[in-house]
Amino acid sequence: MDKRVLRERMRKKQQQLRRRQMMKKGACVVAVLLVVIFVIRGIILPVINRVGGKNVDKPSQVQAEVETTNGTDTTDSGTTDSDGTDQSEVQTSTNAAIRQPLKGKSDLTKASQLTAGWHDDENGKWYQNADGTYFAGGMQEIDGSTYYFSDNGYVQTGWISVGFDDYYFNDDGTYDPSQHKTRIAFTFDDGPGEYTDALLDCLEENNAHATFFMLGQNVENWQSEVQRMVDIGCEIGSHSWDHPNLFNLDIDSVAKQFSDTDAALEAACGQKASVARAPYGNWNDDIVSTVGKPFFTWSLDSLDWSYKDVSKDYDAVMNGDLTDGSIILMHDIHEPSVQAAIQMIPELVAKGYKLMTVSELAAAKGVTLQNTCYSDFWDSSLNNGLVAGYSGNSTSTDGSTDSTDGSDAASSDSSSSDSGSGSTDSSDISDGSSDSDGSSDEDTSYDDGSSDDGSYDDSSGDDGDYYDDSSYDGDYSDEEY
Ligand code: NI
Repeated sequence: MDKRVLRERMRKKQQQLRRRQMMKKGACVVAVLLVVIFVIRGIILPVINRVGGKNVDKPSQVQAEVETTNGTDTTDSGTTDSDGTDQSEVQTSTNAAIRQPLKGKSDLTKASQLTAGWHDDENGKWYQNADGTYFAGGMQEIDGSTYYFSDNGYVQTGWISVGFDDYYFNDDGTYDPSQHKTRIAFTFDDGPGEYTDALLDCLEENNAHATFFMLGQNVENWQSEVQRMVDIGCEIGSHSWDHPNLFNLDIDSVAKQFSDTDAALEAACGQKASVARAPYGNWNDDIVSTVGKPFFTWSLDSLDWSYKDVSKDYDAVMNGDLTDGSIILMHDIHEPSVQAAIQMIPELVAKGYKLMTVSELAAAKGVTLQNTCYSDFWDSSLNNGLVAGYSGNSTSTDGSTDSTDGSDAASSDSSSSDSGSGSTDSSDISDGSSDSDGSSDEDTSYDDGSSDDGSYDDSSGDDGDYYDDSSYDGDYSDEEY
């Protein structure tokens, strides 16, 4: 009996001992692990990072230096492209790459190569800084060239969009400021209306901008649409209050058409129209200077107001002249027009077109807008001195008259940068009634017959002499321009 009790106690004692030993061993293992982790984090990693001899205590995100833009600009400014591209400025200050600290496994792989400079691995090309960091998530100039680094730190090629701007990077990753997309400007007239919002959806989804030439009388009913245009980067244009033929109005009434519309626009979105378009394209120098805004006609008329048919609208634009610098006329008050636009906008973007507002297009082509009328920003028009405010072609063959900063062109070219179907020959239209010069002298004659102003359609008879029927076969002013 005693022996059994004794043996039982011995057994329990031994069990206790074993448990204590186990716990001690466990504690040792944990302690060793802690030491290992401490050594790796506290000593080995800093040593790796210190390869460049820089302090590692605060290695993390150092803003990449912004000394870069000047370098690219000066090299390119001498060769200002014949087409007037002005995209050479890299906005490195806002889009600059940041230096990423080392983190995670893949970075350790990178760090294992340890030499500062360019490196390649199976994922591409990346740049190792002397302090062990690498560039990521933006643009960075290295050795005189600008590169774009992905968030993972790899150099990107091809088109990169940063906000609304596009930049082209060659196969070796260097930025090429001479490359640009085919830039065109969609314009939508006579709205806003019930279909405008769907069009804005499409524009926003495709990172595209357009210009809306709106009627003041429609603005009050669609104020939130007008505000949204501003919010997504579209341009606010005026198309008069209620679409009269301006040739039938006295000049005070013309002024009121646009000042009333500006007031409505300001109430809707806080800003006046920056650009204008005359109903039926009926503008002259008096009207333009009275309104005091750059006027626009178009180079491609979709004729959507006459078709009211989605596929015909679509074909008219997609098979039309979409040369870089074109201005396209459509109407967002017609449902088929909006449906056609919604179809073609993503397709054009996918094909490499850049859809801009008219003011963005002008700026991209090196044109400072004046108070005159513009129908396109084609290179051919720019280089022939037909576009007022274009400063990029001082070496053009007939540059004797337009070598100054565009003010000459503004007065002498108003007839040739005229309204109408610019895709054929815009000068035909004015030649019908006036010579190349002095078109403003004849302008007063168009104002007669003002007794019947305000109506949309009885202007065709009055203006027959202005829009020479032989050069324009459409019923120019009967419809909804
Ligand atoms: Ni119109």
